[in-house]
Amino acid sequence: MKNIHSPSETPRTGNKFFWLAALAFLSVSFAVHGASQKDDSGEELDKQFTDFRTLVEMPDKARQILHEDMLDHLAVLNEINRYLAENNLRSAAEVAETGMGRSLLAKYQDEDIRPGRYMPKEMRKIGWELHYAATEFATAARQGNLQKTLQAYHRITSACVACHYSYRTR
Ligand code: HEC
Repeated sequence: MKNIHSPSETPRTGNKFFWLAALAFLSVSFAVHGASQKDDSGEELDKQFTDFRTLVEMPDKARQILHEDMLDHLAVLNEINRYLAENNLRSAAEVAETGMGRSLLAKYQDEDIRPGRYMPKEMRKIGWELHYAATEFATAARQGNLQKTLQAYHRITSACVACHYSYRTR
């Protein structure tokens, strides 16, 4: 049985303590920084957290649908991760195609509530990109090509990132 105080364990433990100490130090300095900000006017705070994303306005119903779609995307991504970890490319393909693929674009029959209708052109393009990437992912996964599958996976998450860094709805 391994002794926890064995010399081989010591450097690792020391390392861990170093990181914990560093983390504690950082959290304290952030907390202090935050507290000093509170003394200033709210305006100062707003300036600190300038939001450069473009606000996209849409009717409540459309925004609600977008929101549901987003939570769904996150769950789908999580499922994909699970199947990739299990090396189950076939199921990963299935989930990506049905949960995030191009077939989703026509999901809502009523035009007025389709979130895409209210998106600026560039934003809509990123939305399409996500669906194309998902379709590419499914194709590569069905072919059993792991590298291409992972490349398409990165293409998927890049679309999530690109849109979130550029747009907000409130
Ligand atoms: C075409 C743009 C676009 C793409 C692509 C996109 N999102 Fe979003 N997402 C949004 C917008 C807009 C919001 C609302 C953010 C806001 O209003 O602050 C949002 C919000 C979210 C939220 C927060 C939901 C909540 O409970 O508030 C999650 C989670 C999310 N997206 C996940 C994803 C994931 C995962 C992907 C990629 C697989 C993705 N999104 C791709 C536009 C996009």
